[in-house]
Amino acid sequence: MSKVAIVYHSGYGHTQRQAEAVQEGALAAGAEAVLVRADDLTSPDAGPWADLASADAIVFGSPTYMGAVSGVFKTFMDASSKVWAAGGWKDKIAGGFTNSASQSGDKLATLQQLAIFAAQHAMIWTPLGLPAGNNSSKGSTNDLNRLGAFLGAMAQSNADEGPDKGPIPSDLATARVLGERIARAAARWTSGKAALERKPVYA
Ligand SMILES: Cc1cc2nc3c(=O)[nH]c(=O)nc-3n(C[C@H](O)[C@H](O)[C@H](O)COP(=O)(O)O)c2cc1C
Repeated sequence: MSKVAIVYHSGYGHTQRQAEAVQEGALAAGAEAVLVRADDLTSPDAGPWADLASADAIVFGSPTYMGAVSGVFKTFMDASSKVWAAGGWKDKIAGGFTNSASQSGDKLATLQQLAIFAAQHAMIWTPLGLPAGNNSSKGSTNDLNRLGAFLGAMAQSNADEGPDKGPIPSDLATARVLGERIARAAARWTSGKAALERKPVYA
């Protein structure tokens, strides 16, 4: 069984619902899936870093604040530099998600930030893998991937409503698809990885 860790920050609970949906998707695909709060990983020397070290895949999730990841999530990113120096997450599967109040809200910038972060760690980024929804006369906000992202999962939560109302069900379903896809990618990667490691091409 592969293990998926979902590291997320959520200031007001909306992105947490998205993170929980990613976890549901990974569990449905047969993976072990744990939620880890970025708030608990702001120091390189304390917190549940072992949950990430033992994971085959790590999914990064942050609300979009000021067109970027939140300050707490960035603190976690910076705290991971000790893992980076040791190549601790090299070749793990990665993916990402974000939620914000506006339909766009510059969420793409956040996903790009997460993908670059994964690349710095030499991880293998897994895009969402869904066609864009709600982009034709037959579309609706109930479509999977209704915000039309490819790099990762996006969600939108109205600024004046709590996490009981947002993200809306289609965004949570989209997050579940990401979790399932990451779990399947991790399972395929870990089953093939042992064979690859036995036959190094370049020393
Ligand atoms: C400091 C701050 C900055 C924000 N910046 C953006 C933004 O750039 N784009 C956007 O669409 N929403 C922005 N929002 C709204 C949040 O993304 C939105 O309320 C989101 O649902 C919060 O998620 P959370 O409950 O997980 O913290 C911002 C909110 C805060 C508190």
